[in-house]
Amino acid sequence: MIIGSNIIYREKVSSTNELAAEMLDKSIVPEGTVIYAADQYMGKGQRGNTWLSEAGKNLTASIILYPDTLEADQQFLISELISLSIAELLDTYCDSISIKWPNDIYYKDDKIAGILIENSLEGKRIQNSVAGVGININQNNFPPEIHNPVSLNIINKREYNIREILDEFCKVCDRWYTRLKKDELDYINNKYQERLYRLGIPSVFITPEGRLRGIIKGIDRFGRIKIEKTNGDTVVYGFREIELIV
Ligand code: BTN
Repeated sequence: MIIGSNIIYREKVSSTNELAAEMLDKSIVPEGTVIYAADQYMGKGQRGNTWLSEAGKNLTASIILYPDTLEADQQFLISELISLSIAELLDTYCDSISIKWPNDIYYKDDKIAGILIENSLEGKRIQNSVAGVGININQNNFPPEIHNPVSLNIINKREYNIREILDEFCKVCDRWYTRLKKDELDYINNKYQERLYRLGIPSVFITPEGRLRGIIKGIDRFGRIKIEKTNGDTVVYGFREIELIV
């Protein structure tokens, strides 16, 4: 097993992704090293946002990977395999888990987990990848500024052992990462597309050109979302170019 072969725990850290990056700067870190913290007081979210997580309540962890079989333009596959790993992990605790493109994990219409992948590129290759995951486990009160949060505790009305969930996550993630290493890229990509939130359902999006009505059809090989407009044309959008509203 690669993922979780080396697990580092910190009581308190600014951000597990930051700590992972510092470790990579200073030394050679074994592939699959997982850093997790009880209290992450300056957690990083997507698009420069902060990730707020109550101390001791949730899983906040970062995995160090060397996906040397991938080229830089295939980096979305890392998001796919991490999203699939979290979704499969959460399937054992509840139904109705999906992946909101590009990499939010949803329970019904609420967000239960987020992912922040930070890759270091060297020319066309990915030198290393830090995959940060935040999964809401035992927290049942969230600050009002967090949009539609949910946790396992809110869903199932019980407390969970976070370390046990981390160990399960490492096992599931290891299986998906092995598929990547064995070049099963179409398999990963197809499974990711099958689990997309609002796949095939008429939805409304905000784009730089304004409001768009359409249906999510899947993603292309660069991880861009494919949307069929009401006139039957298909359009493709990259990250930050589009936002799903309903
Ligand atoms: C998001 O949905 O905005 C992404 C959230 C990612 C949060 C995790 S928690 C562990 C890791 N360390 C960080 O600072 N961020 C990620």
